Amino acid sequence: MRPRDERTTQVGLTFDGQSLRAHCGQTIAAVLLNNGIRSWRTTRRNSAPRGMFCGIGVCFDCLVTLNNAPNVRACVTEVADGDVVSSQQGTGHHELD
Ligand code: FES
Repeated sequence: MRPRDERTTQVGLTFDGQSLRAHCGQTIAAVLLNNGIRSWRTTRRNSAPRGMFCGIGVCFDCLVTLNNAPNVRACVTEVADGDVVSSQQGTGHHELD
């Protein structure tokens, strides 16, 4: 468990260009849900919206692009100050979609 003062420290990040504040130690998914954002990925075939499903890192429904790296699981990845989070379309690799 993290020390209490670290858990209460605020960090700043962006999601699709929108500035958000978060508590250090929160996952990306928690921050997005706290800000009313319920979907942040679309599926490869039907462009169906996806967000958090299992919440424990198993289903891969919650993938985002983090600091230009695609396929990051938002439900198990903690935010860091200055993170640039983007919604993801399909595989996150244009050449594969
Ligand atoms: S919600 Fe299932 S892996 Fe993140």
